[in-house]
Amino acid sequence: MGVQVVDHPLAKSMLTALRDRGTPPPLFRLLTKRLALVLCLEATRTIPTAAVEVDTPLARTTGARLAQPLVAVPVLRAGLGMLEAVTELFPEVTVGYVGLERDHATFEPSMYYSKLPPLQGRAALLLDPMLATGASASAACDALEKAEAQQITLLSVVSAPEGIERLQGLHPQVHIVTASIDDGLNQYAYIVPGLGDFGDRLFGTL
Ligand code: URA
Repeated sequence: MGVQVVDHPLAKSMLTALRDRGTPPPLFRLLTKRLALVLCLEATRTIPTAAVEVDTPLARTTGARLAQPLVAVPVLRAGLGMLEAVTELFPEVTVGYVGLERDHATFEPSMYYSKLPPLQGRAALLLDPMLATGASASAACDALEKAEAQQITLLSVVSAPEGIERLQGLHPQVHIVTASIDDGLNQYAYIVPGLGDFGDRLFGTL
């Protein structure tokens, strides 16, 4: 599948504030949630619906309901900042968690936690705000594919070209929805210009 860059003016202005090193954690959390709402709306534009009849005060008409519940999977810990947006938009969503930490020397991830609800035949929204090397996102997609998710969409705030290339190479079926494709990675595998360490900025652990 492809990469979709959400360039709505509201998304751009919220991303700019997230990038600003002076944005404190409470505002960072609020903006993350609001931006995730926009990303989530875009990511779910084509999810299946079923026809349903409804009586308005004036007439019977045909409307739509969501055909099946989604599964949201935040990657710990930064992905937690995006979860509330999804649960607010889709109250029926089931939620799984994947914990990945990256080795500071090799930048390769190892999974220290995985708790997934049934995924067979379901559409999954993977919440991972920084698509950097693509290693964590790929490892998370491995887990979702092993659990037989039917469709995976990655919601990322900022993506690096390197991460996109790696993820698309390893998981060509995964759809990526992001607010920006940045210039690239620095020697520490941080995204430039990026916004720094997302988890630290979200939780005030700088
Ligand atoms: N993770 C982050 O939080 N920031 C980056 O720039 C890359 C990975």
